[in-house]
Amino acid sequence: MTNPLLKSTSTILGIESSCDDTSASVIQNGEIRSNIISSQEIHRKYGGVVPELASRAHQSHIIPVINEALETAKVSKKDLDAIAVTQGPGLMGSLIVGLNTAKGLAMSLGIPLIGVNHLRAHVSALQIENKIEYPMLCLLVSGGHTQLILQHNENDAEIMGSTIDDAVGEAFDKGSKIMGLGYPGGPVIAKLAEKGNRDFHTFPDSQTKDLDFSFSGIKTSLLYWLRKELEINSEFLNEYREDICASYEKSLVNMLLKRVKKALKIHNVKSLGLVGGVSANRLLRNEMKEMGNRHNLQVYIPSFEYCTDNAAMIAKAGEQNHTPELNLYL
Ligand code: KG4
Ligand code: ZN
Repeated sequence: MTNPLLKSTSTILGIESSCDDTSASVIQNGEIRSNIISSQEIHRKYGGVVPELASRAHQSHIIPVINEALETAKVSKKDLDAIAVTQGPGLMGSLIVGLNTAKGLAMSLGIPLIGVNHLRAHVSALQIENKIEYPMLCLLVSGGHTQLILQHNENDAEIMGSTIDDAVGEAFDKGSKIMGLGYPGGPVIAKLAEKGNRDFHTFPDSQTKDLDFSFSGIKTSLLYWLRKELEINSEFLNEYREDICASYEKSLVNMLLKRVKKALKIHNVKSLGLVGGVSANRLLRNEMKEMGNRHNLQVYIPSFEYCTDNAAMIAKAGEQNHTPELNLYL
């Protein structure tokens, strides 16, 4: 479905600034022409995103990032038909930078401003490269959210399960912090896990009702187990770092897959989707593909550049307009 605000052919600038990535993208008649992402290195030394620093970094990055997105796409501001911007959820100080920049630009150009839901945009990322077969069961895994979504069609979705505490991305990030490995934790743990033994240790899954998730227990379990082992051998972490990462990653992936498997027993779907920053995880990507094969389902997973936060997914969602109630008419 195309956004009724737009002509059948359209050029949209997407802007994303909900957390610590400043991104701008141009989509033209359904095709991504540029997707510029500027990641903020400053948070690494703090082991997590510092909201005030994120907001300040967005302020200095946003105009150069937008200009680069336009230049790469070879379009000028006057070629734009609309601007799509992340309206939420996210860090307020970060969101405001993208929203105000987008609003000022849209007003000066006299074009519509489309507010986009960040989570819905992660799902829209799948449509950049695929024509989806519905109904689709989509696992959304990011730094702030973990959801199992039953997508009946492009516009109609139901949330079947959510985390009751931490998101799975947070479990990667906090686990990494406990091990002193840095931020963001997911890619660091995944890299070390490649050389480790996944069966070195099994972390217990939390009991949750229905299709809900819980990830706060596994992080605490890692902390206490490491403390205990370090009392016996102070070099435990240095000696077994790769094995610990591999076991932690495997346990997190299994916790996700268990719920997907359970959902597939309840809901009859034609395809499986995997979106959000944690969908960049190779083990999870492979396991989802295998699950799809076993159930004879099509599996959609975005290319790496559309997994973690990016403005291409915002531009795509703006083009489709899934969330008309968020539209900000000028
Ligand atoms: O979607 P995203 O970019 O931002 C949010 O909307 O939260 O997701 C960021 C999350 C972080 O927790 C990061 O550690 C995780 O995605 N992540 C990964 C990998 N790459 C990023 N987690 C596991 N394996 C990865 N390869
Ligand atoms: Zn995200």
